Amino acid sequence: MVVPLRWPAEAVWEAVYPALPDASVEILPELDSTNTELMRRARAGRLEPVLLVAERQTAGRGRLGREWLSTAGDSLTFSLGIALSPPSWSGLSLAVGVSVAESLHKDLKLKWPNDLWLVGAGGDRKLGGILIETACVGEQRYAVIGVGINVAARDGAGLATPPACLHELDAGLDAPQALLRIAPALVQTVLAFGQFGFAPFQARFNARDALRDRAVRVSDGHGGVLEGTAHGVGEDGALLVHTALGMKQITSSEVSVRPQADAHWASGAASGKAA
Ligand code: BTN
Repeated sequence: MVVPLRWPAEAVWEAVYPALPDASVEILPELDSTNTELMRRARAGRLEPVLLVAERQTAGRGRLGREWLSTAGDSLTFSLGIALSPPSWSGLSLAVGVSVAESLHKDLKLKWPNDLWLVGAGGDRKLGGILIETACVGEQRYAVIGVGINVAARDGAGLATPPACLHELDAGLDAPQALLRIAPALVQTVLAFGQFGFAPFQARFNARDALRDRAVRVSDGHGGVLEGTAHGVGEDGALLVHTALGMKQITSSEVSVRPQADAHWASGAASGKAA
């Protein structure tokens, strides 16, 4: 028997209200994608702050045009839509990652620019990811911050990075409780980013950096490859890579960064699928 999820919509709204009194919290049983829905609304001129959760996505999207597969109940999929005007937009996905990781578990790591990883003896495994899109409407820019978290174990076939899930860290946590843990701090984070940009999050990202001091390969998907050692992120969120030609700053989010010894890299790139 499938037990229906009980979503703490009111508790989330109450926690978010002091920082964002005009925000709404919507929980829907099914959507194509929470990001797609909020981008549609923004293009139609609806720029109000909203936290939109879908129990099931039929066309979930990940970075680099990949699909994001999830099963109702076994994952948490939501987007926060909010109009922002930060001093600089660079580093938003990193700040979001810091917030989500800190809300969930001390051992969660961040893999530049947008993945939540568990790193252990079994290798690197992906627990979740972040997809940020923006829409310009008149003078305003509306950010759609999508977060996907594996709550229960999932099939890793075809994924570039094997999956991890929240139940490994806390067997009692379900998707609604995870949302309640994540959402209030995420709203605070995004508002702070809107005021100060990424700088206040730099040290916190670096403390959880999964790539720190590891050999990495950066690929732009068009044959351009850069190899070196990862050295954390700068104050604008750029990934610093020490190469034979000196320190390079990687700013484009349209690249794939993998630890060099990652046996999954070649097959993942070839299949074009993401965890
Ligand atoms: C990635 O790792 O490539 C990013 C994955 C982001 C998935 C989330 S699930 C909620 C929101 N809606 C989507 O279609 N994608 C994001």
